[in-house]
Formats: sequence, C-alpha cells, structure tokens
Amino acid sequence: MLIILVMVYVTLCEGCVRNGSCCWCPPGFRVGEQATCEDSQCTPCKSDEYMTSYNRLSRCMLQPYCDPNVNFATPEHSPIRKTICRCKEGFYCSDEHVCLTCVSHSSCAEGFFLGFSGNHTHDARCDPIPDRLGFSNPFLLLCGIPIVAAIVVMLVIFTKKVRIEYPDVSSMIVFPKPSLRHTQEIYITPSVTE
Ligand SMILES: *[C@@H]1O[C@H](CO)[C@@H](O)[C@H](O)[C@H]1NC(C)=O
Ligand SMILES: *[C@@H]1O[C@H](CO)[C@@H](O)[C@H](O)[C@H]1NC(C)=O
Repeated sequence: MLIILVMVYVTLCEGCVRNGSCCWCPPGFRVGEQATCEDSQCTPCKSDEYMTSYNRLSRCMLQPYCDPNVNFATPEHSPIRKTICRCKEGFYCSDEHVCLTCVSHSSCAEGFFLGFSGNHTHDARCDPIPDRLGFSNPFLLLCGIPIVAAIVVMLVIFTKKVRIEYPDVSSMIVFPKPSLRHTQEIYITPSVTE
C-alpha cells in the first residue's frame, strides 16, 4: 500500500523527481546548498564521489581510495556506482574475501611453466614441465598402457594355443609329481614337433 502511494507521488519535476512534497535528486547528484523542498538545485557528484539512488542528501558518498602503494589499479569512477578497487596488471588480491592489498603473481621456477597466468583475484599457476623420457609424462604412460596390455593379451593367447594343441602335456604335468628333469623334457617335446 505504501509502495503504491509512493509510486503515485513520484512524478518528474525539473532535473529531479517529486517524491511526496519534495523534489529528489537522481543517482549521481545531490541537492544544492541552498536547496528548498521544491527547488532541489541538483548538483552532480565530484569525480571521486557517487550516489546510487534518488536522494535529498547534501553530500555525495566518497569513492573508496584505491591505493597504488598497495598495487591497486587507478580506477575509473562512475558517479552512480561505488567503485570496487582492482589490482593492477600482474597482481592479485592477498585475500579472497576482502581485497586490502595486492601482491605480485608468482613467477615460475626452472622446470616449471606458466599453466595459468593469473587474474585480479587469483595467483598464477606453475605446472612442472613434462619430462620427455621419464615416466612422469602422463601421455607417455597413457601410450604405454595399451602396448603393455597388447603384449599381455598376445602372451595369453599364445600360451593358450600351446595348451590346446598339446592337451596331453598339461595332464602329464598335473598328475605325478615330476622331477625337474622330467618336466623339462615335457616342455621341450612340443617345440621340437612344431
Ligand atoms: C521517496 O521517499 C521515501 C521516503 O520518504 C523513500 O523511502 C523512497 O525511496 C523515495 N523514492 C524515490 C524514488 O526516491
Ligand atoms: C580468475 O581465475 C580464477 C581461477 O581460474 C577463476 O575462477 C576466476 O573466475 C577468475 N576471475 C576473473 C575475474 O577472471
């Protein structure tokens, strides 16, 4: 109900908005020093000030100071928005929640490369340079796995084939506990016939 009443009373007047009996200044403006209820003398905020809403205030809000001594970039202020200080190029916020100071992005040590160059809120990320010959290279490992698997599969197939072709050999191994000499003879026999 109150909102509807306010809406009804809000009507445009010169450079301001009538709200109730008084004229309110728009965002980016404040009322002048000699302002009256009817004549607000809306005055723009200074370059380091802002005002986000319609108002009847005689002073604009002061923008936050982005201190270059703690590596903040020189901001471009908007008179209708509060500025959020941002770190200058190559720096990031020391704290994720409240940015009070900016610290330099890490530079990568020898043996590391820049995986992520960093931004205003996050540090750069250094990744180890892959060792081309070593097993630390994940791609080499990935290539190696199928090759090893293929060799294993071939060995299994080959072993199975031998057993199927000479079933009498396996039955001879299982039954009497054969002497070492005896077993050797059994194994040699199929390869000779082959
Ligand atoms: C009108 O004035 C009321 C208080 O008197 C305030 O709450 C409201 O935000 C104002 N509306 C505008 C559009 O400025
Ligand atoms: C900064 O980088 C982080 C990590 O990659 C990412 O989550 C975040 O969205 C980035 N922020 C901006 C403003 O680009």
